[in-house]
Amino acid sequence: MSHRAAIRKHYEPRLEACREHFDILDWADAAGQQARFEVLARRVDLRGKSLLDVGCGLGDLWAFLRARRLGVDYTGVDILERMVESAQIAYPRARFVTADVFSVNPFGGRRFDVTFCSGVFNLDLGNNRRFLRQALARLMELTGEVVVFNLLHERTPRRHDHCFYHDPKEVRRLVERLGCRAEVVDDYLPNDFTILCRLDRPRPAATPAKPPSQLTNPNAKLAKPPRRPAKAPRKTLGRP
Ligand SMILES: C[S@@+](CC[C@H](N)C(=O)[O-])C[C@H]1O[C@@H](n2cnc3c(N)ncnc32)[C@H](O)[C@@H]1O
Repeated sequence: MSHRAAIRKHYEPRLEACREHFDILDWADAAGQQARFEVLARRVDLRGKSLLDVGCGLGDLWAFLRARRLGVDYTGVDILERMVESAQIAYPRARFVTADVFSVNPFGGRRFDVTFCSGVFNLDLGNNRRFLRQALARLMELTGEVVVFNLLHERTPRRHDHCFYHDPKEVRRLVERLGCRAEVVDDYLPNDFTILCRLDRPRPAATPAKPPSQLTNPNAKLAKPPRRPAKAPRKTLGRP
């Protein structure tokens, strides 16, 4: 089964209006999803930066950043068209694109100051280590300053068959082999860690305001959008 087919098979049946965002995205709870966003906001100065949210899901990072008034120029991209349609309904003012950025770069030569990948590498796709290596090369191509991504931690007390777990030391070595300094953050959840790769590249003078128009999703879906994420943290259900 192709990656896209496996991702679709996992997430599309979850896209139901009655479910909360974190549940559709297969996070254990809203607090876990937000804790991953907090690492990004805590470790990177995002003020006035362009940010590409790769595997944006329902676009909840857009709302998180907006609440902090950081002036971030946000673009969300997801492989699943239905996911992007739902994100666009939930957050009509945000910019979303449908694409598999690891197969085709839809942004031409554009670089974003920051790229962020939260939960994108969670599913066990059968070749996760090789896939991560290839994906990181693409993320570095897309990024001017810092790539931030999280992975499920191998120390996790309760594993799930459909998920893939990583050793932070091994991932740090992988990033360094790609010629990049790696910072590991693993103090926020028992089952997750974040890697920051700072690229030390000069910031481009100007970047286009929008991605290619044929890739944006101007058509709001008619279906009822999924509910917004819960405000109060919920009890962990045993998922990431
Ligand atoms: C666990 S969800 C996380 C969503 C979002 N980052 C969040 O934290 O709320 C993972 C998302 O990554 C998307 N995804 C997986 N592989 C992708 C790829 N190659 N390109 C773009 N999106 C991808 C999935 O469709 C899904 O929406």
